[in-house]
Amino acid sequence: MITDQDPVIALRGVYYSVADTVILDNAWCEIYPGEIFGMMGMSGVGKSTLLRLIMGLIKPQAGEVEVLGTVVNDLGEHALNQLRATMGISFQGAALFDSMTVAENVAFGLRHPRQMLSEEEIDKRVAQYLEIVGMEGHESKLPSELSGGMRKRIGIARAIITTPRIMLYDEPTAGLDPIMSGVILKLIGDLRSQFGMTSVVVTHEVDELFSVADRIIMLYGGRVVAEDTPKNLRCCTTPVVKQFVEGAPVGPIKV
Ligand SMILES: Nc1ncnc2c1ncn2[C@@H]1O[C@H](COP(=O)(O)OP(=O)(O)OP(=O)(O)O)[C@@H](O)[C@H]1O
Ligand SMILES: [Mg+2]
Repeated sequence: MITDQDPVIALRGVYYSVADTVILDNAWCEIYPGEIFGMMGMSGVGKSTLLRLIMGLIKPQAGEVEVLGTVVNDLGEHALNQLRATMGISFQGAALFDSMTVAENVAFGLRHPRQMLSEEEIDKRVAQYLEIVGMEGHESKLPSELSGGMRKRIGIARAIITTPRIMLYDEPTAGLDPIMSGVILKLIGDLRSQFGMTSVVVTHEVDELFSVADRIIMLYGGRVVAEDTPKNLRCCTTPVVKQFVEGAPVGPIKV
């Protein structure tokens, strides 16, 4: 059992490679209860890979991924599924079930026998969460009838409807208009205030991340090259961080 002072997620010396390519090397971070924790870095640096490691969808070749006091990489499928029930993830590409309607997609996590909800309660919850993400009235549509940003919002509604203790967002605002991005960023904060939810937000959109996150790590070359508050990261003089934060377009990234 973990206490309020213990991290809900901890990565310790995580190494992950595919074939001969090292993707993460000695990645580390500790994320505490109720934190909104950001992970940023350039495209292809390993942000989505980190989320897949936290969910236990892939295992590191070295190091530990710990969630709620349990080392994820040691778990068998049954224990892993139990742990996963405490986590929600909104995938970068939404990953909806194509043959299911919007309502069926969003209701998916509520249909677990343990939830014991009536059809009426499920419909009510689905309507409530569709409204939260600004998608009310689209219940009977199929994912193929939606835009990328709409699919993304359905993916978020599907993930948060069970109010998991930990929510992982992979590029939650990519493809959304500024108003809808604002709605989603506010939602992340609201879920913390209402339920004490811990959130991990992965993105390369620096300004949005800085507006919502308490602390942020930056990945570069498979490593964590910075971990700090948005305020301190804005003043960070490490060239690779400064260049990323300021969005400097010229020249190679300096380490
Ligand atoms: N199954 C795989 N096989 C081969 N390479 C992989 C695999 N999964 C990830 N990679 C590689 O790992 C690296 C990190 O990928 P990842 O998707 O984690 O990046 P990312 O930081 O999320 O990028 P983006 O911002 O574009 O979403 C990439 O170089 C990618 O090519
Ligand atoms: Mg990604």
